[in-house]
Amino acid sequence: MSERRLRWGVISTSNIGRKAVNPAIRASCNGDLLAVASRDEARARAFSEEESVPVSYGSYEALLDDERIEAVYIPLPNSLHKEWTIRAAEKGKHVLCEKPLALDAAECREMEAAAAANGVKLMEAFMYRFHPRTEKVLEIVRSGAVGALKQIRSSFTFLLTRPDNIRWDPELGGGALMDVGCYCVNVSRTMAGREPVEVRAMANFRSPGVDGQMAGTLRFEDGLLAHFDCALTMERTEVYHLMGTGGHLRIQNAFLPGTDDAIIEQFDMEDNLTPLTVPGADEYRLMVEHFADCALNDRPVRYTPEEAALNMRVIEALYESARKEGAVVAVK
Ligand SMILES: NC(=O)c1ccc[n+]([C@@H]2O[C@H](COP(=O)([O-])OP(=O)(O)OC[C@H]3O[C@@H](n4cnc5c(N)ncnc54)[C@H](OP(=O)(O)O)[C@@H]3O)[C@@H](O)[C@H]2O)c1
Repeated sequence: MSERRLRWGVISTSNIGRKAVNPAIRASCNGDLLAVASRDEARARAFSEEESVPVSYGSYEALLDDERIEAVYIPLPNSLHKEWTIRAAEKGKHVLCEKPLALDAAECREMEAAAAANGVKLMEAFMYRFHPRTEKVLEIVRSGAVGALKQIRSSFTFLLTRPDNIRWDPELGGGALMDVGCYCVNVSRTMAGREPVEVRAMANFRSPGVDGQMAGTLRFEDGLLAHFDCALTMERTEVYHLMGTGGHLRIQNAFLPGTDDAIIEQFDMEDNLTPLTVPGADEYRLMVEHFADCALNDRPVRYTPEEAALNMRVIEALYESARKEGAVVAVK
């Protein structure tokens, strides 16, 4: 138990807050969930009763005006991340904001500047990076146990049946790449340990700017290729493969492994499999505890807004390529 505990507020009654992040804050060793805000007062009140959150507010502004709140978790539609992050920072609140941090790299940098100007922490909530399995995979890759990486393949797809979901809305920053492909881009860059120089992508757009399905490639300077696919229109897949000159790793249930023990499948060059087991963990809880520790003790966050901007820069290039029917686009 940490001596000081961070006082959190959550902005909106989102599904992901209800399912994963609010419970993680409540279970954390160094934080308490004090308040919830909704655009709708009755919804906020019902949420606070159902989820045992002490205080409810019928507007996001009202929560930001509560001086007891030290940090906010923002699980709003993507197009609202920038506005509410900046407004929270200006009220002196630390911000853990959902992925993707913003609509583009420029927005990420505006948010970073607001956080810096107000002396608060800002981090993008890519929770899978806090799972000990992800850390173990990185350690294996960096140790050279699979040789030099030659190819990365990743996939994140699921079937979104609700037509009114925020992920289909062009005004709210919808799209498969924004929603799930962003994990593929993130894991490719993280495992490569460097930035791609160019990309190409093909997509099926549901409406202008909103891809239901995308397949793309990131090319790194030394020839490493990272292929990915993502979709809101297919059955669930969640996997990445790291192919090296000395073997390869396959990570299934890659981003949402749950809290059971997690497996890393390591193959040698003859395709012999050695499974490694990593003890299960709640990646959401590890993320919020890290963030609270940074906020309480003024430590740097492990994944900076600049890192989020680099991810968004690749996403922007992929959308440009998909709009141009797969043209090669440089990552600026
Ligand atoms: N890290 C993860 O595992 C994970 C998983 C899923 C989603 N996410 C991210 O979390 C964010 C929210 O996703 P979600 O699936 O939880 O969404 P959601 O259930 O639709 O929640 C979004 C919330 O935003 C509020 N909101 C404000 N303006 C809105 C508008 N114009 N239209 C709709 N809602 C509006 C609503 O709350 P009030 O009405 O109460 O104000 C709504 O409940 C997204 O950025 C998504 O990428 C992350």
